[in-house]
Amino acid sequence: MSGNLILVNSRHPLPEGLDVPPDLSVTDGAALRSEAAEALKAVLEHIGAGDRIALVSGWRSREEQEEIYAQSLRDSGPEFTAKYVALPGCSEHQTGLAVDLGLREGEIDFIRPRFPYSGICQSFRLAAPKFGFVERYPAGKEHITGIAHEPWHFRYVGLPHSLIMTESGLTLEEYLGEGSGEA
Ligand code: DAL
Ligand code: ZN
Repeated sequence: MSGNLILVNSRHPLPEGLDVPPDLSVTDGAALRSEAAEALKAVLEHIGAGDRIALVSGWRSREEQEEIYAQSLRDSGPEFTAKYVALPGCSEHQTGLAVDLGLREGEIDFIRPRFPYSGICQSFRLAAPKFGFVERYPAGKEHITGIAHEPWHFRYVGLPHSLIMTESGLTLEEYLGEGSGEA
C-alpha cells in the first residue's frame, strides 16, 4: 500500500526512494507533505487553535531519526526508546504524513509532548478525523502498533479512511490487515 495509506513500522521500513517526499511544505517549523499540511492547517483553523497547539515534529530524514534514536538511547535508555522512538528507517515521520503536536505551555518535551484528552487538544483530536487525521498509537493497541500510547502523534491517512478507522477503532495495521507491528 502506498500514497496516504503507506504503512511504516518495524516490520515495514520506508521503501527506498521515498526518503525525501517530493512535496514537503513547511508550516510553523514542521514540514509535512502538502496535502497533510493543508489538512492540518484546516483542523487548527476549524477549532480556533490560535497559537495554543505547537507543531513539535513533522517530517524527519533518516539521519534525523538516527540522531533522535541515539540521543534517546543515551538520555533515557533502551526500554524507553523501544517504546517511544521508532527504529531509523521505520518511523512514519519519514513519510511526511505524521506530526507530533504539543500543548503550548512552558517547555515542550520533544519525544513526549503533552497533548491531553481535554481542552483544545481534545477539540483537535475530535475534529481531526473529519480532515483526514487519526490518532496513530492508541492505548491498548501497543501489541499491534509496536509503539507505546502516544496521545500526541497524528497521522494523515486522508478521507474517508480517517473517519472509518476512527469510527471502528482500527489502527492502520488493522485497517490494512497487516497484523502486528512488532518485529
Ligand atoms: N515516536 C514515533 C513512534 C516515531 O519515532 O516515529
Ligand atoms: Zn510522532
